[in-house]
Amino acid sequence: MKIAITGGSGFVGLAAAEALAARGHDVVILDLAAPPAGFWSHPAIAGARFTRADICDGEMLAQVFAAERPDVLLHLAALTSNEAMERQDAARIVAVNVGGTATTLEAAARAGCRRVVALSSIAVYGSRRQDFGDIDSLDETMPPCPDTLYGITKQAGEAVAHRLAELHELELTVLRLGPIFGPWERPGEARPDLSPHAQILAQPAPRLASEMRADWLYSRDAGQAIAAVVDTAGLGGKTFNLGAGSLSTPHEWAAAAGIAAPEIAPDAPTVTSRIPPSRPPLAIERLRSAIGAAGTRPITDAAADHMVWLASVNMKPPHANG
Ligand SMILES: NC(=O)c1ccc[n+]([C@@H]2O[C@H](COP(=O)([O-])OP(=O)(O)OC[C@H]3O[C@@H](n4cnc5c(N)ncnc54)[C@H](O)[C@@H]3O)[C@@H](O)[C@H]2O)c1
Repeated sequence: MKIAITGGSGFVGLAAAEALAARGHDVVILDLAAPPAGFWSHPAIAGARFTRADICDGEMLAQVFAAERPDVLLHLAALTSNEAMERQDAARIVAVNVGGTATTLEAAARAGCRRVVALSSIAVYGSRRQDFGDIDSLDETMPPCPDTLYGITKQAGEAVAHRLAELHELELTVLRLGPIFGPWERPGEARPDLSPHAQILAQPAPRLASEMRADWLYSRDAGQAIAAVVDTAGLGGKTFNLGAGSLSTPHEWAAAAGIAAPEIAPDAPTVTSRIPPSRPPLAIERLRSAIGAAGTRPITDAAADHMVWLASVNMKPPHANG
């Protein structure tokens, strides 16, 4: 099948492109700019094509979709704002995450694309809920309660996508992704805060505010789950959590990767975190029963695979042990 991926030059987009290409799909990346040369030349995404597209520009999208005629739209493009970005750039965040979702789904529907997989976020569940203390995991039946502009726009994006799916008879599947780390991550204007794992790799003496134990999902496992959703019929109208299913810390990953352990320094951290400390992990049983497998690989396997991938793009950790 031909799969068009908006935001395909980004972290999740390239992980999904890799998994979809491995399954033999024809992958077209739609983004404001092509992936950086070191990533784009990687054999894992050989065969994927890039077309420049702005998801807020309806005319440009109409031309792109008319030319490409994808079977499936994988809608990922978004601004993953932090607090500083939300203070400075609120209208643009809403325009891209909500308006861009409407523009993209409308253009895809007009070009005859009938299946859409849209990426949402764990942020729709919120980070300051009173009821977090009483629950072990976040499941899809919990009412959304976002409390950041990012989470609010991801929830609104879901609602817009559902309504357009109804109007244009699209089969829409929504995936609420949790925190991820691993191959294909890099700094970018659209997502100011990198995972702690990527920050640890980039700093000579990283300091964490806390151990940051969370349901960290290895990016290649996220990509494989997204590709499995694309390949599974009958998931239209459904919403799934896309999470790790187990907890780990950046320390455990660093130890498994042979990287010097980052210091815990609550008063002077150099590594930022987007993980609310009391937020429970995503429940992944619904996705597991839909596609047969879900969750992250063991942290030792993820760390080993991650280090091989880093070497394949000439990115050696600056402070590796040994
Ligand atoms: N990374 C995570 O931990 C995480 C967690 C939960 C949900 N998500 C969701 O996954 C999706 C992908 O996020 P990511 O982590 O890959 O972010 P990313 O910033 O790495 O990638 C986003 C891509 O969207 C592109 N983009 C932004 N505005 C655009 C526009 N107007 N037109 C076309 N392209 C545009 C950017 O250029 C970038 O390549 C998003 O929908 C995000 O909300 C990510």
